[in-house]
Amino acid sequence: MQYFSDLPISSGTRPEAVLGIETSCDETAVAVYRHGAGIIGEAVYTQLDHARYGGVVPELASRDHVRKLAPMIRQVLDQAAIEPEALDIVAYTAGPGLAGALLVGASVAEAYAAAIDRPAIGVHHMEGHLLSPLLKENPPEFPFVALLVSGGHTMLVEVAEPGRYRLLGETLDDAAGEAFDKTARLLGLSYPGGPEVAKLAERGDPDRFSFPRPMTDRPGLDFSFSGLKTHTRLLIEREADDAGRDERTRADIAAGFERAVVETLAIKCRRALKDTRLERLVIAGGVSANRRLRTALDKSLPGRVYYPPSALCTDNGAMIALAGWFRRGSATRNGHIGVRPRWPLDELPALEKPKAA
Ligand code: KG4
Ligand code: ZN
Repeated sequence: MQYFSDLPISSGTRPEAVLGIETSCDETAVAVYRHGAGIIGEAVYTQLDHARYGGVVPELASRDHVRKLAPMIRQVLDQAAIEPEALDIVAYTAGPGLAGALLVGASVAEAYAAAIDRPAIGVHHMEGHLLSPLLKENPPEFPFVALLVSGGHTMLVEVAEPGRYRLLGETLDDAAGEAFDKTARLLGLSYPGGPEVAKLAERGDPDRFSFPRPMTDRPGLDFSFSGLKTHTRLLIEREADDAGRDERTRADIAAGFERAVVETLAIKCRRALKDTRLERLVIAGGVSANRRLRTALDKSLPGRVYYPPSALCTDNGAMIALAGWFRRGSATRNGHIGVRPRWPLDELPALEKPKAA
């Protein structure tokens, strides 16, 4: 698949081909971004073993990354028809994420970069998500507000330009994707739960049960989804007899829950645009694949909403390669393998100017 990138080409400046490696959670993903051409090769392997346990098991994730990563790099370079020596930089997710999983990606990336005598750069996973809509035709112009909604994060960020971020609000407890995953589990659906809940919700009546819209009645841009999760759990327990047998009740609960999350996110996005006086909203991260969320945002916001290409909503190597390209000025050859399992987005430094090649 070839993703387009409209970014201006700075004439004659190298580096321009970036290998991106993502291993922060349960996806092993590799891609090559070539400036001016977009994504010219990519592969994502989603580990399926975790479904059995209802969530990601860190040790299993690390082990699977070890097995998959090297063959996937070879496969993606073949697909991109590019020799390792033609790469200019190796970018990898340095955080946030699971420590062991991140270490596998970082070690392989640093070793690979050393082997081809190129610099490497550890990038921030959420910066990758945030920049991923730039890989689509007609990308958003800066500045914009970004809603980042994934399994581990829910945040609103003011993006002045690449590398300049101001956190506007974030979740005080569960992330939106996590709330989907936990609700899925309570409804007897498999992991990852977001797409499963959305599918079940299609047949449900969102108005049959009432759900709270957490933290929308007070000012501010923070989120909290744990109360909604508890509300849903109690509802499922109360209706358990029914829910066990009755597919309709389960679908109605899924639909009501999904609508509550969607409306809560939409209300906060509207507020963030108003507060910052910005017009454009970018939404990224796994939950941005949700169709009802997209419809609600398209309908209820005054300005335009930008999404990543659908295959790039969940974790992928393309967004890491792209973030690596933006951060190319900080790439080094020191071979240092450092990961940051916890890494607040607003601790990212400004972009450094690329050194002349
Ligand atoms: O960004 P991502 O792939 O991984 C993290 O960085 O966490 O996001 C995964 C999350 C999971 O919680 C999954 O349930 C959720 O995104 N998700 C969805 C949908 N597709 C994925 N949630 C709601 N609706 C969807 N269609
Ligand atoms: Zn992610």
